[in-house]
Amino acid sequence: APYEGAPVAAVAAETLAQAEAAARLVAIEWEVLDALLDADEAVERGSLLAPTRTYERGDYARGLAEADAVVEADYSTQTLNHNPLETHQCVCEWRGDAIDVYVSTQYIWGMRRDIAEALGLPPDKVRVICEFMGGGFGAKNGAGSYIALAAELAKRARRPVRCRFSRREENVVGGNRNATRQRVTAAARADGTLTALGGEYTCALGWDGWLPPTSGPMQLLYACENVRTVEHGAKLNLPPMAAFRAPGFVEGTWSLECVLDKLAAELGLDPLELRKRNHADVDPMDGRPFSSKNLLECYRRAEPHWERRHEVRARSDEVWKRGVGMASQSWYGGGGPPSYAWVRLGSDGRATVVTAMQDIGTGTRTAMAMIAAEELGITLDRVDVQIGDSARGPFASISGGSSTLPSMGPAVRSAAADARRQVLELAAQRFEREESTLSLSGGNIVCADGERWPLEEITGLLENGQILGKGSRGPNPTGMRVLTFGIQLAEVAVDVGTGEVRVEKIVAIHDVGRVINPLGARSQIEGGVIQALGHTFSEHRLDDPHTGTVLTKTLDAYKLPTIADVPEIVCDLVDEPDTHLTNLGSKGLGEPPIVPTAAAIANAIRDATGADVTSLPITREEILAALREAEQRGRERVAAGAA
Ligand code: MOS
Repeated sequence: APYEGAPVAAVAAETLAQAEAAARLVAIEWEVLDALLDADEAVERGSLLAPTRTYERGDYARGLAEADAVVEADYSTQTLNHNPLETHQCVCEWRGDAIDVYVSTQYIWGMRRDIAEALGLPPDKVRVICEFMGGGFGAKNGAGSYIALAAELAKRARRPVRCRFSRREENVVGGNRNATRQRVTAAARADGTLTALGGEYTCALGWDGWLPPTSGPMQLLYACENVRTVEHGAKLNLPPMAAFRAPGFVEGTWSLECVLDKLAAELGLDPLELRKRNHADVDPMDGRPFSSKNLLECYRRAEPHWERRHEVRARSDEVWKRGVGMASQSWYGGGGPPSYAWVRLGSDGRATVVTAMQDIGTGTRTAMAMIAAEELGITLDRVDVQIGDSARGPFASISGGSSTLPSMGPAVRSAAADARRQVLELAAQRFEREESTLSLSGGNIVCADGERWPLEEITGLLENGQILGKGSRGPNPTGMRVLTFGIQLAEVAVDVGTGEVRVEKIVAIHDVGRVINPLGARSQIEGGVIQALGHTFSEHRLDDPHTGTVLTKTLDAYKLPTIADVPEIVCDLVDEPDTHLTNLGSKGLGEPPIVPTAAAIANAIRDATGADVTSLPITREEILAALREAEQRGRERVAAGAA
């Protein structure tokens, strides 16, 4: 067992208590070896999960030499647990030589493929069912070994077998966002033009996993000619990492957006101006145009909130210092093919969307119903959505990478359009009109000559028949970069006596193309910001420094944010369709809102107090130490001025 929680034996029984009692009887002879737990040490010793990744564009050394100011700083982030309310779990039941797997998953079809591979079955012998799920955040993209074990036990027991993680198990082997240590450098001319960006990132990945794109924000967010990044992925005797809501970008944006504010201070420039000045008009990595980008519009909308800093600061008193900070954001989220959907229209004029996708809990089901309803010109209550079963619908994409809506939405829209065309073809014959003069709207077939007929006048002719529409997700635009963008601002109050921080307001301005469901989108933003607040202040997986066992297994030790921690959250979506991206023009919103929050808060803390915080989570001890350092810097400046 190379880390705590690695599977060594499996037991099935009639009841959970029996299974637990039997598991305690399993005798294991352990040989205790030294644990490798420190990421820097692992890199030194060459214990890596992937080759060290380097990237360079332009001439980094020249960029540094051309700068009027160079800022270098160390940042770190902690190990985090996903803690979906529903833990990892499955029920496996054999039906002859085929198996049904009920499982909490972000990717029904990936699960089908992985389980088939693990069991040596043709994929069509595996049926995966997940109609509802209680969150994943990236931890439920793939099939964990617990599923293959449950399948094997079910085979031997000739009974369905359920395997589920307890909350304690979830917090050990449910996956984690890897900790990082980062050294970043930002250099600019006096006018704020970036001349060089550099980052060296060490990721504590655990025993297994992959190297997330921690350098992504540094490579993508700004138009800087000279960039150099180095990323190490340390293999350690700790549980494997897993994708976690914008993996890499959360950690990399934390350092990049903090160091940019330090650079702005060094140059005496406005942080918003600095970000505008270095706006990337094309993909800074390869010069490709963006399919759409409204980050400048986000910046414009940020101005009145940023303007409030004077008034916010003025409300400071001896104890509570107040300030405003900001951070920009970019992430993927364009989705892609393949994905398929069917739309079934019955004689009663009701439609059913059928596709074997999952709803991770974000309301994808509702969004699909809205897309079909609009295309068919009927109200939402006349649309049902059947999802969640690989045996009852076509292939659908993963709910990861903020891609469910941009991948599935276009397929549903094209299936509904296919059904609409068939209705109009029938209507053209029946009512003796040119098909091109007919459309669907308000539950009616509408003719350009002003006549209209209820939809059921056509669908009713079908009696027991149905109109079947079929749709697929087209390709992404070639030669273009598809990304999401945003900026967040934070207003904070810092108690300089105790180091307590109150976040009073978060403003989240995001550009994700066309918004389908404004209420659902707002929930996505609020959820992302609240999860980010936990990452900023309270969540922290702690490991025993000698054995590497996880100390924070329960929710009283691992502190998730509660409703009492939630500030006012202002959501503002640009809502401009991406005209190059699919028949829908929508990008995903699952991940963008968690990306910039921590840096916006740290920048607000600096704005309020001068304290420079560099490690997550931001604790009171760190604030107090940073305040002392800021005072010391202030005294040195005064002394230098006097001399
Ligand atoms: Mo996600 S972290 O791309 O499921």
